Amino acid sequence: MAKILVLYHSQGGNTKAAAKLLTQGAEEAGIKVALLEARRAEAQDLLRCEGIAFGSPDYFNYIAGGLKDFFDRTFYPTQGKITGKPYVAFITHGGGGKAKESIELLCRIFKFKKIADTLLIEGRPDDTSAVQLKDLGKKLAEAIR
Ligand SMILES: Cc1cc2nc3c(=O)[nH]c(=O)nc-3n(C[C@H](O)[C@H](O)[C@H](O)COP(=O)(O)O)c2cc1C
Repeated sequence: MAKILVLYHSQGGNTKAAAKLLTQGAEEAGIKVALLEARRAEAQDLLRCEGIAFGSPDYFNYIAGGLKDFFDRTFYPTQGKITGKPYVAFITHGGGGKAKESIELLCRIFKFKKIADTLLIEGRPDDTSAVQLKDLGKKLAEAIR
């Protein structure tokens, strides 16, 4: 069974590409990963995993509605059951990146444990951000080992 859940929302493909790179990094560290669109994920996915990565585009200085909807749907069913679960997050943006604040606020409210700084990526991941995303996946993998 997958130990890490990578949850993302992506309209244009940038965040999906980033999510795949993070997944690759965690898998290279020897951990099984489930890569899932946030709108298809449920509270059970959150309860079952040992670590979680959230990926979102910056839409209007906030995380995407598709990912926010996941937080809305899973808050009551998971509270008290996921406290301290390790998480990392990444945001793709068009030159802003303020959505970083909203993902971090939600993760504090959910009481996840932050493993690394939230990664900001402008547009489609390039070679530099590909390395950063894979490293982030490895860090999350190490946190649950
Ligand atoms: C509706 C909408 C709102 C956006 N708002 C912002 C914004 O407030 N700040 C920013 O830096 N980029 C903004 N962008 C740009 C996206 O964050 C950026 O292109 C992102 O990489 C798109 O990810 P995706 O391809 O996974 O959908 C916006 C894009 C869209 C479609």
